[in-house]
Amino acid sequence: MLVRRLTLQDFRSWHAVQMEAHSGANLLLGSNGVGKSNLLEAIHVCALGFSPRSRSEKDLVRWGSDRFFARIEASQGDLPIELAASCDLAGRKEIRVDGVVGRLFSKLVGHLTVVGLYPEDLQFIRGGPEQRRSFLDALVCQNDPAMVEVLRDYARVVKQRNAALKEPDKFDGDVREVLDSQMLELARPILERRMDILDDLSPRVGRLHSQLSGGTESVGIWYRGSYGDQDLPRRGQELSACLEARKKRLANAESQAQSTLFGPHRDDVTVLLEGRPARETASQGQARSLAIGLRLASAELLAEDKNRRPVLLLDDVFAELDGPRRKRLAAMLPHDGQSFLCSPHRADLPFEVDRTFLLEAGTVRETMG
Ligand SMILES: Nc1ncnc2c1ncn2[C@@H]1O[C@H](COP(=O)(O)OP(=O)(O)OP(=O)(O)O)[C@@H](O)[C@H]1O
Ligand SMILES: [Mg+2]
Repeated sequence: MLVRRLTLQDFRSWHAVQMEAHSGANLLLGSNGVGKSNLLEAIHVCALGFSPRSRSEKDLVRWGSDRFFARIEASQGDLPIELAASCDLAGRKEIRVDGVVGRLFSKLVGHLTVVGLYPEDLQFIRGGPEQRRSFLDALVCQNDPAMVEVLRDYARVVKQRNAALKEPDKFDGDVREVLDSQMLELARPILERRMDILDDLSPRVGRLHSQLSGGTESVGIWYRGSYGDQDLPRRGQELSACLEARKKRLANAESQAQSTLFGPHRDDVTVLLEGRPARETASQGQARSLAIGLRLASAELLAEDKNRRPVLLLDDVFAELDGPRRKRLAAMLPHDGQSFLCSPHRADLPFEVDRTFLLEAGTVRETMG
């Protein structure tokens, strides 16, 4: 996978800019606030259909403008891929995948594999369950784009089920039953995929965390379901039976709460460091190293399919690490793929890059050396 060109119009701080990228490491160099992270964000949006920092696409429109446009021209082997996204302040969205126009940003996923390492990733360790669910679901969807629709349908059904729990008189029993069975049917593949991915991710994160920290701390990652104390069966009939039993047990509580109290939208992931919850006990440096481990493990997992070897987006990751960790991270990064790194100082990078782009006052200029 290779991003060849990025074109932006009125995206965040950028009015109109085009950047020709190269294979290998592309460094975006420029002072604080010049728009480096915004460029990485644009690549992320075109490849994954959502921003790593904003929930609303409207936030991406440059202040004072009424619509943003972002386009990536990429290639996979000899095959060219074009991915474009735009949204206006009224929320009207349009995407283009190889010239085919659509409306749903989520349809962008699955054409260009991208893994980003961002300062905000610390929230996977420190933040609330929603951040960990989003991380996991983004990975599930990159791994299997068909899951985008399953997740969307699940969210829709939960919303309808919550409406029925709020105003039971407005929904007859048959409708409520249909919503129940749709919810359980959609929950099952989501749970199966999430648990499978975590099984694959967990040992990788442990190894990468140790490599980066230079120690041997044990890491455990567990899926923590909203299904009581029992262990969640991994799949199939047993999983369905467990969900059904949970629904029955929570029937009264759900009527009282007027809300769906179990299911993938209530689940969490526990990260243990030396057997203790990392959320509460990890130091800042340990949490940072675990978050980097999660991202690099995702990249490793996706790279197992050669056609999906990810493009890496590294948003100022070296700046927050001490000297030895910088060197170790540099050695851990895959060297055969394409990456985009941003930093205000070249000296923060412990290795030579292939190309350097200077960002200044609304322009991107490739420099020699
Ligand atoms: N919708 C928007 N319209 C215009 N400007 C925006 C918009 N959203 C954010 N900005 C501006 O973009 C700038 C931040 O850009 P960005 O985060 O890319 O900077 P950066 O080069 O990564 O800086 P740092 O080195 O500090 O990380 C800020 O000045 C912010 O005010
Ligand atoms: Mg930045």
